[in-house]
Amino acid sequence: MGAWEKIPAWNDLPAHVRLPEPVDGRGYLAGGEIRRWGGPTEEVLSPVYCRDAVGDKEAAPVRLGCSALCSAEESQEVLNAAVKAYDNGRGEWPTMSVAGRIEHMEAFVGYMQECREEVVRLVMWEIGKSWADAGKEFDRTVKYIRDTITALKDLDRNSSRFSIEQGYIGQIRRSPLGVVLCMGPYNYPLNETFTTLIPALIMGNAVIFKPPRIGKLLYQPLLKAFQKAFPPGVVNMIAGDGPTVITPLMQSGKIDVLAFIGTSQVAIHLKKLHPRPHRLRCVLGLESKNPAIVLPDADLDIAVRECVQGSLYLNGQRCTAIKLIFVHASIAEKFVERLAGAVEALKVGWPWEEGVMITPLPEPGKPEFLRGLIADARQKGAEVVNRGGGEGFLSLFNPAVLYPVTEEMKIYHVEQFGPVVPVAVFDDLSEPIEHIIHSNYGQQASIFSTDPRTIGWLVDQMINQVARININSLCQRDPDTFPFTGRKDSAEGTLSVFDALRVFSIRTLVAAKSEPHNQRIISEIVKGRMSNFLSTDYIF
Ligand code: G3H
Repeated sequence: MGAWEKIPAWNDLPAHVRLPEPVDGRGYLAGGEIRRWGGPTEEVLSPVYCRDAVGDKEAAPVRLGCSALCSAEESQEVLNAAVKAYDNGRGEWPTMSVAGRIEHMEAFVGYMQECREEVVRLVMWEIGKSWADAGKEFDRTVKYIRDTITALKDLDRNSSRFSIEQGYIGQIRRSPLGVVLCMGPYNYPLNETFTTLIPALIMGNAVIFKPPRIGKLLYQPLLKAFQKAFPPGVVNMIAGDGPTVITPLMQSGKIDVLAFIGTSQVAIHLKKLHPRPHRLRCVLGLESKNPAIVLPDADLDIAVRECVQGSLYLNGQRCTAIKLIFVHASIAEKFVERLAGAVEALKVGWPWEEGVMITPLPEPGKPEFLRGLIADARQKGAEVVNRGGGEGFLSLFNPAVLYPVTEEMKIYHVEQFGPVVPVAVFDDLSEPIEHIIHSNYGQQASIFSTDPRTIGWLVDQMINQVARININSLCQRDPDTFPFTGRKDSAEGTLSVFDALRVFSIRTLVAAKSEPHNQRIISEIVKGRMSNFLSTDYIF
């Protein structure tokens, strides 16, 4: 039995992580009102087990509260609220000055920070993320909002002047697109939803969002912050199961932008529901099978460190995780031995434990799915090479290094999104390159080598297959100011602090022949502050 195979008692938990009481997750936000759903709800259980929690003497998943299963009627209610707030682009919010929208957003960050502890605690309990990483997710999100405000100020400063071109005078700005539907995944239940919701909002769109399937109670404390900070209907939240509440939204044809981070299978389904697909813009962050290539001259300390972090940070539940490692045959045994040792040294445990890396998996059935991939690989000749790899205890899953993995095995192609680290061996670089070419995914790759010539050549071979190549570094989205995108089934559109402002807006302009009467009219509009669009106001 591993040190981690012990169910904690509720009273032994550090006081700051204990949930004071179950959360009433029946609240949803429509038209500026927090409404309480009176129909069926679903129980929300943590992937974390405790003894003696809420009077339960047995070891059981901690009950966190209940969550609304709204009906199509509430879905229509939030849609009507968003459509009304946008009012065909004539609403208070889409016509507000950029400086005005920034003020609302700054107020929101203030209210949001007041809920930090509550939200962080719920991130930890709902998805099993470590206390430290749940805190990092919150702080990264606040930084993302602040950076977005700074980037918008820059953008607006460049638009606050008139251009004179070939006898025409014009002012060009970025304008909102309409009603945006935002949905993020469970692995970053706060951050990933906010990386689309915040830019969509600040650009003047009206937003409807649905929290992820796992990680939804954490939005309850935030409803008040949204309500206080934004005009009614500008931001709306619906809760429930996708087919019931999302299908009618998409079928209405009134969603102008779909911002979705999840699987390509769901994205395809959602897009097809829209009656006018040519009008629907999509911003999608989807799955991946990011490879790492370890060359014979790689610095093994670095390669092992980055491959462990890259494939197992957040239990490997990152779209950006390294999901297949190719190692050159000449160093394969040495690399795998060190990789297995490093994985064995990782701390597996409950989320509040100091230095814990591997924590409970929140997805029901995930351990069985991962064991199925391991069994398939074993049957076809691979072995689990780290001690205890693949063993489990309730929702805890000891990471498994699988070696040698070949293309006949499912794990070679399928996204595991969990703590299984497959290692394949290559003799010739054409092998990993062929894998990338034939993969359905094209998000990122990592190269480990000390030879500039080989790295340079490999970058040129792979850069048009993926969207980011990492040299002697793990695959990741950070820093959030870098473009985050992918090819093939991995993404549509580009996100980053800077790019997201563009995806949720369209360039629009007012132009006139540069003749004295027009110059006079425009000048009077600007001087008399008769328009928010035609304006030379400069945001400091
Ligand atoms: O799950 C996908 C995330 O966007 C990855 O973000 O690379 O910063 O962990 P990260």
